[in-house]
Amino acid sequence: MPVSHVYLDHAATTPVDPRVLAAMLPHFSQTYGNPSSVHTFGQQADAAVEAARRTAASVLGCSVSEVIFTGCGSESDNLALRGAAFAERERRAADRLLISPVEHAAVLQTARQLQQHHGFHIDWLRVDPHGRVAPDELRRKLSRETAIVSIVYANNEVGSINPIPALAAECRAMGVPFHTDAVQAASQLPVDVQRLGVHLLALGAHKFYGPKGVGALYVKDGLALLPWLTGGSQEHGLRAGTQNVPLIVGLAEALRLTSLERSERNAHMTVLRDRIISGVLERVPDAKLTGHPAERLPNHASFVIRGVDGNALLSALDLEGYACSSGSACKSGAPEPSEILLALGLPPELALGSLRVTVGKDTRPEDVERFLDVLPPAVDRIRRMATVRP
Ligand SMILES: Cc1ncc(COP(=O)(O)O)c(C=O)c1O
Repeated sequence: MPVSHVYLDHAATTPVDPRVLAAMLPHFSQTYGNPSSVHTFGQQADAAVEAARRTAASVLGCSVSEVIFTGCGSESDNLALRGAAFAERERRAADRLLISPVEHAAVLQTARQLQQHHGFHIDWLRVDPHGRVAPDELRRKLSRETAIVSIVYANNEVGSINPIPALAAECRAMGVPFHTDAVQAASQLPVDVQRLGVHLLALGAHKFYGPKGVGALYVKDGLALLPWLTGGSQEHGLRAGTQNVPLIVGLAEALRLTSLERSERNAHMTVLRDRIISGVLERVPDAKLTGHPAERLPNHASFVIRGVDGNALLSALDLEGYACSSGSACKSGAPEPSEILLALGLPPELALGSLRVTVGKDTRPEDVERFLDVLPPAVDRIRRMATVRP
């Protein structure tokens, strides 16, 4: 590892806050009972889970009966989509899923499986070039046959924020459940479910300085969901399995700190994000910002850079000591452009040159300045290599 390794990939995951770790530790070896057990050990574990549920409910602005702990953000999305799709089909014969093409794979692939194996149909919402869905578009595509609508709160690849309160209002007017994937948004945007007006909202703790392997789903009271992890009656019967007490405690503490420190963190990160955006656009020829210029996550800068292979650039930056990300996935040596960037209308050759730089609450301005010095020559080298290739 180079001497200074700077992490600029907070949209992928974040380090566990030491205060969160401290809150979790006693629950590995001291409060180790099974929350479902009757004895004192069980009662202590159950008390820890229920205290965490109260904390999460107070940040979400909902009642404790509306918070379900899960194993990750993806699982929360799965439970929302699958759970509502099957329940709504049973209840009112609605068998259509209405989603945007720029959802995270946790939603996209779940919808596709419901279509391919379970007889549901997918209707696609048109997005603007920044990846946002307009309330008018949702109104046009909603129908009584829509079982569930799912629209991401803030996009993980391009950082654009959707107008969730207006979108959710369209669904409420039509009596259709609305799910938002807030896995990326929760680290920076308010997640008050009353103000958002949603029926379902997914969280994943590792995006907001909590541990990996734990998530939560808000489920509005009265909304029927068919559980798909069946067994015991944990989590109000919606997610069987002995609860992971330390991780649940960690999620709640991380969410509490995030909500408490949100404005201070965002103010710090916005300055760094804007510096990255202006620095890259000034210093790297043929670089273009992706995502909305203003309605974007405070920590999120994303670009496409012409004539550059995104994965080659990531490796070059890594060698210089900078960890960033690209939307393109390398499948058996052949890079493939991100499905999300293609859905925004970018040509494949441009989409292959994507770069995502996401700062965190502890990123330092001097790291950003050094990054801006290192990036242009790295881009230059990759472009030169690409032109000498036979
Ligand atoms: C928008 C969005 N949804 C869902 C997920 C999946 O979350 P997890 O990794 O906790 O399963 C991610 C993770 O990158 C995400 O960014």
